[in-house]
Amino acid sequence: MEKSTGKTNTAVFISGRGSNLKSLINFSKNKKSPIKIKLVVSNNSKAKGLKLSKKNKIENFLINFKNKSYAESKVLKVLKNKKIELICLAGFMKILSKAFIKKFKGEILNIHPSLLPKYKGLNTHLRVIRNKEKFSGCTVHLVNSRLDSGKIILQKKIKVFKNDNVTNLSKRVLKAEHKLYPRAISKLLSFS
Ligand code: GAR
Repeated sequence: MEKSTGKTNTAVFISGRGSNLKSLINFSKNKKSPIKIKLVVSNNSKAKGLKLSKKNKIENFLINFKNKSYAESKVLKVLKNKKIELICLAGFMKILSKAFIKKFKGEILNIHPSLLPKYKGLNTHLRVIRNKEKFSGCTVHLVNSRLDSGKIILQKKIKVFKNDNVTNLSKRVLKAEHKLYPRAISKLLSFS
């Protein structure tokens, strides 16, 4: 998967805040980092993360996903042009189609704020708290055609306290996400 530069050409897909994008940008700036972020894809023109990519002079590709197959075919073209080998979904709130996953020849990673296979989908922290779980956490996994179901690369367990609310818990999990995603990328790329 490595290019002659020694770095894997990477695209990060976002829909909003972009704090994981920020951690990945910081990671990519490290000399020893295995990735180069060449593209940020967003389905949302108001995504705060877009400002980050501009600030760091990374090309943005903004595309409305209302017509998903059209959007995906456009995205695939850009990925091909930029020779992207790895996609990191980072708070990207659209589900990529089977066809897209099949056509993209590299790896696709996602980060999810739960200990998969528990709590797939949305509102994970609220469901964790309502179910009085003792632990939650985050997972980086490969993307396949089923939601939040691909092979797990790394997980981090986080204790849930009795008085936790969604705000506290999501903050603690997010902090762990920012460390976990770079580690998972390094792990994936060192074995490919
Ligand atoms: C993160 O907590 C990420 O795990 C979650 O969205 C948040 C995005 O935050 N992703 C999902 O729920 C995907 N199913 P960010 O935009 O600040 O990185």
